[in-house]
Amino acid sequence: MTEPKKLFIKTYGCQMNVYDSERMAEALGGSGYVETASPNDADMILLNTCHIREKAAEKVYSELGRYKGLKAAKPDLKIGVAGCVAQAEGQEIMRRQPLVDLVVGPQSYHRLPEMEAKTRTGVKALDTDFPEEDKFERLKARPKAARGPTAFLTVQEGCDKFCAFCVVPYTRGAEVSRPASQVLDEARDLVERGVREITLLGQNVNAYHGADGQGGDWSLARLIEGLAEVDGLERIRYTTSHPNDMGDDLIAAHAECAKLMPYLHLPVQAGSDRILKRMNRAHTAESYLKLIERLRAARPDLHLSGDFIVGFPEETEADFQATLDLIRAVGYGTAFSFKYSTRPGTPAAERDQVPEDVKSDRLQRLQALITEQQRATQDAMVGREVSVLFEKEGRLPGQMVGKSDYLHAVHVADAGTAAGEIARVRIVESGPNSLAGVLV
Ligand code: SAH
Ligand code: SF4
Ligand code: F3S
Repeated sequence: MTEPKKLFIKTYGCQMNVYDSERMAEALGGSGYVETASPNDADMILLNTCHIREKAAEKVYSELGRYKGLKAAKPDLKIGVAGCVAQAEGQEIMRRQPLVDLVVGPQSYHRLPEMEAKTRTGVKALDTDFPEEDKFERLKARPKAARGPTAFLTVQEGCDKFCAFCVVPYTRGAEVSRPASQVLDEARDLVERGVREITLLGQNVNAYHGADGQGGDWSLARLIEGLAEVDGLERIRYTTSHPNDMGDDLIAAHAECAKLMPYLHLPVQAGSDRILKRMNRAHTAESYLKLIERLRAARPDLHLSGDFIVGFPEETEADFQATLDLIRAVGYGTAFSFKYSTRPGTPAAERDQVPEDVKSDRLQRLQALITEQQRATQDAMVGREVSVLFEKEGRLPGQMVGKSDYLHAVHVADAGTAAGEIARVRIVESGPNSLAGVLV
């Protein structure tokens, strides 16, 4: 028997890249690859990259540079670049870094097996097409390996929103939804393999409108309803949503669907209407706050998370204060914040930039406020009962770690449960990054 070839995948960026890496590993499994945790014994190294901010993209080149020695020692080693940097600058990668054998974009990675075979004949392979055929149909045959209790499932890809700062519409292309039956099949398959919680993914997941096979469409709310009927699937989440696509039925689902978890990532980016307009967000601070009100009316204990950009071109101190005001008005469970990063080819790149030190100062102030809110929401959990899906053993003997309905990390001593089980837990302590609880 021939030894299996070893594949090392390093994943950057968002959850969709995590999902794509799993699918790429499965696809290459058919070419005789098994995954390895180290690049040192790999026969193929694949970097699944992110282009969202300048730093993220630059990481790729420095990482590739580090593989020079490996490649010199093992000329058979194949090095590939996948993901959004591959899509955005595939040709340039090939030119700048001659040790790269293969470049594949996010919409064409079902062609990886043929591309890998091509590199084995000594020919470089580049594919950054947006092909006609359905990537997911071609990837259908998943090996039936056991899985952990949580999984991502991409249901929608691409974005038609064109926020002025963002590369995603260019790297991921136009919005496409997977047919509902395809999603349901994949969910059933995941559940058979041990998954209890599925997070539905899309760059704009709440714009989902998947074909129902009868000439109609399913909204995301309808899809969640369908998934809730899958026996053994206990929890459903979705990310990332755009405020303008929060339909009435989706808001209602937060009141009606017990399996839909009370946590929502709903990026707003900024709190100044002038900046929101310049960002091409097509919503105002007020419309966002109204939406939050409706969501909380449907699900009063909903935990909210968001994304914020500070130092967007032309942002003044007053604009920034409006963002802090919005954050104070919402009260986030957690949030992600970034300094605006100039992305070539996006409209905002051409505008008056905010100096770096001003950006840094604003980021610090914004993060201090978020940390305060995060701390307060977390501390408020003490004494409350939550349900916890256990994911793995903790550091201490007998300890188990899992996630609450609100996505807090919770650890329980002497849990006496296995990964994949859900238990009622009373929170007794709030630490910096996690909660401690006892079984009820
Ligand atoms: N589709 C998602 C987000 C995709 S990118 C959405 O619309 O919410 C994730 C986050 O990265 C964004 O929400 C934004 O806050 C941040 N981001 C995107 N482009 C950026 C840029 N050029 N500079 C800094 N942050 C950026
Ligand atoms: Fe980017 Fe805006 Fe689309 Fe989100 S909605 S992926 S921020 S363009
Ligand atoms: Fe990055 Fe592409 Fe995701 S740019 S955030 S990996 S969609």
